[in-house]
Amino acid sequence: MKKIILGVSGSISAYKAAEILREFQKKGWSVKVVMTENATEFISPITFLALSGEKVIVGQFKDLEYGLEHIRLCDEAEALLVAPATANIIAKFAHGIADDFLSSLYLACKKPVFVAPAMNEGMLLHPATQRNLEILKKDGVHIIEPEEGYLACEEHGKGRLTEPAKIVFEVLSALGKEMKGLKVLVTAGATREFMDSVRFISNPSSGKQGIAIAEEAAYMGADVTLLLSSSSKEKTFVKTERFETLEDLRAGIKKHDFDILFMAAAVGDFRPSRRYEGKIRRGKNITLELESTPDLLREIAPNKKSGQIIVAFAAETDDLLEKGKKKLFEKGADLIFVNPVGRGRGFESDTNQGYLIFRDGNIKELPESSKRDIARKIIEATISIVRG
Ligand SMILES: Cc1cc2nc3c(=O)[nH]c(=O)nc-3n(C[C@H](O)[C@H](O)[C@H](O)COP(=O)(O)O)c2cc1C
Repeated sequence: MKKIILGVSGSISAYKAAEILREFQKKGWSVKVVMTENATEFISPITFLALSGEKVIVGQFKDLEYGLEHIRLCDEAEALLVAPATANIIAKFAHGIADDFLSSLYLACKKPVFVAPAMNEGMLLHPATQRNLEILKKDGVHIIEPEEGYLACEEHGKGRLTEPAKIVFEVLSALGKEMKGLKVLVTAGATREFMDSVRFISNPSSGKQGIAIAEEAAYMGADVTLLLSSSSKEKTFVKTERFETLEDLRAGIKKHDFDILFMAAAVGDFRPSRRYEGKIRRGKNITLELESTPDLLREIAPNKKSGQIIVAFAAETDDLLEKGKKKLFEKGADLIFVNPVGRGRGFESDTNQGYLIFRDGNIKELPESSKRDIARKIIEATISIVRG
């Protein structure tokens, strides 16, 4: 099990460190907590002991089992994360002051270090703090920028600790290795094609499968951009751009260079031939003429640069393998995931199933599982193609 050391310093937001710990555990990580003496004024070590199941280290000269924890603790972990980080601990890190356990640990730590500042806006914007943050950046520390919002001091401003789930996302994606250096573009969700200014044709795709792929690729260290439909309600910390129509999506794909493109968006096959300005009035029956939309995969796949990989997706109600193979070979994708839709399957649900079809004729069945599991399997298959 991978381990992270979570340093907690004396900020009013210290209680949020408990949520950070839980988020790491949800991702299958174990957490060792180290606190400053001042942090214990805000939250008790017993909370972290109970949640982590590991002894919490506070004092420089107590809470130790073998005495050299400040030198060795980082060796058994993937990284050190300090969240929340006070102006004071940031200043100590920047200037090499090691007068408590956490700052001694920082100096001795050879693993990646992440610092998530949390403080009043005045403290954050003070030239001394800004200087210290610059020093930390130069020293290779990853700074997880604080957010703007309502602060505990009843002021609105910058300095609020980044939300726990986002901190964990940033740490895990920076530590990811399997896809480091790869640019990944993912499309997800449903297109909307308008018949007038307020009504559109669409489909129930939630974007969940594409988002799971984007997040899992980010956790593997890829540089990910997600093109997500404006209709998707899902929350994600991946770098996201929204699209509404097929034309928006096409422009979005053209704008980005990629090594791997996952085309998981559910693009409408038809759209109204014209879009009326304003709202069409009720009264008499109208005939809505639909035109076939351009096929983005057929446009993009033949023009891809050498080395680029395109993964296609097909949602089908019947003859899955037959239709999947046809799409893969006729349109020139490198891999296709074909999944059944309709009768509660595929769209909007949290699980998925289907087949991966490779260009060499290989077929791999993916039995019903969470969309996250399916995402990992699709990515693993794609990596096997990238590596040849
Ligand atoms: C109620 C209260 C809230 C505080 N919140 C913060 C904070 O959010 N960020 C910060 O940098 N300092 C904050 N401080 C000041 C720190 O607790 C103080 O600088 C302390 O020396 C930090 O110690 P440490 O860095 O060793 O944990 C707060 C102080 C009090 C009394």
